[in-house]
Amino acid sequence: MSSPIFHLDVSVASSSYPILIGEAMDWQSCLSELTQNRQVMIVTNVTVSPLYLQKLKTALSTVQKLGVFELPDGESYKNSESYLSILDQLMTSGFNRDCVVIALGGGVVGDMAGFAAATFQRGVDFIQIPTTLLAQVDSSVGGKTGINHPLGKNMIGAFKQPKLVLIDIQTLNTLPERELSAGISEVIKYAAIADRDFFDWLEIHLDSIMALDAKTISETIYRCCQHKAQIVAEDEFEQGRRALLNFGHTFGHAIENHQGYGKWLHGEAVGAGMVQAADLSYRLGWLELSDLDRLKVLIQRSGLPVLSPIHQPELALELMQRDKKVKNGQIRLILLRSLGEAILTKDYEADALLKTLQVTSGAES
Ligand SMILES: NC(=O)c1ccc[n+]([C@@H]2O[C@H](COP(=O)([O-])OP(=O)(O)OC[C@H]3O[C@@H](n4cnc5c(N)ncnc54)[C@H](O)[C@@H]3O)[C@@H](O)[C@H]2O)c1
Ligand SMILES: [Zn+2]
Repeated sequence: MSSPIFHLDVSVASSSYPILIGEAMDWQSCLSELTQNRQVMIVTNVTVSPLYLQKLKTALSTVQKLGVFELPDGESYKNSESYLSILDQLMTSGFNRDCVVIALGGGVVGDMAGFAAATFQRGVDFIQIPTTLLAQVDSSVGGKTGINHPLGKNMIGAFKQPKLVLIDIQTLNTLPERELSAGISEVIKYAAIADRDFFDWLEIHLDSIMALDAKTISETIYRCCQHKAQIVAEDEFEQGRRALLNFGHTFGHAIENHQGYGKWLHGEAVGAGMVQAADLSYRLGWLELSDLDRLKVLIQRSGLPVLSPIHQPELALELMQRDKKVKNGQIRLILLRSLGEAILTKDYEADALLKTLQVTSGAES
């Protein structure tokens, strides 16, 4: 099979671009229009490069000039040094304003390459070829790019929409299982905040997704990208509805922070974080107990943790407040009105949150 199974368009005020989803696609035909006779810089990392760089290079046989920038692997390299090295290479290799930057890798590579593309000569074209499930369903779509600062994650960045997102699900065959689970966490997120039917569907198809059945995983990615595209189209710069994509994230960031970044994967922390947000939603009388249980079970079946490792509720609260930089007030949280419907709210009792933080930590079970 070489043609895309799904084609989706993302429309924002500034541009419109396709997401192509397929299995073992013909990368050359997908890329040629955007890259022919142009200068192309591939940004990838040392793990992904031995797996897929050759395929990409072969697909780019008609470009005018080809550069490759290979990063070390890891979130800790999503920093200003790596970013500046990409710009250095673009400068020293004589790339001009008409060049194209291609990100080949997971979210770390995508965020960094995108930020380099957003800022090199005030912005050059950018293509995403995401190779993790998390990047395919989340980070490659929507135009958020950036790097970390020693004092905070994703603190330096820009909105930069790509010209194309090319999702070849064959790349998932080499992805470690733990990374696959971390990506499924974000899949469940879309269902929980916006699509109860999708949630029902996931319960039925989870095993096929985890077994990487081509048809099921393509449809999963398509449905997630549809949601992301719609939310981004409504709210490109996160002034409203886009914030709902952070469901489970304020709780999750506290966990990541507490454990030290890198110990728990982001998707794992979000898995436990979604259970916490859902528990609070249940405590407020919004979410049915049976739906809370369904969410927990689905997260657990995905190989993700459902309990927070922070055993002191007050500490968890402090970490959450630090994450959101709240001053003497309550943190705004994304909670579920029901399964498939989320809201951003401050309208909850502080005691209820503390109770949630207590019962959802590993301490009590
Ligand atoms: N821009 C956004 O909207 C957005 C949204 C969510 C997350 N993010 C960012 O994304 C990053 C996380 O992305 P991620 O989960 O993809 O992590 P990642 O990029 O670190 O990839 C995870 C691991 O998988 C490896 N890998 C990638 N593709 C592979 C493949 N096909 N086969 C084998 N190994 C492969 C990577 O080298 C890495 O070791 C974070 O920095 C986060 O801030 C951005
Ligand atoms: Zn996330």
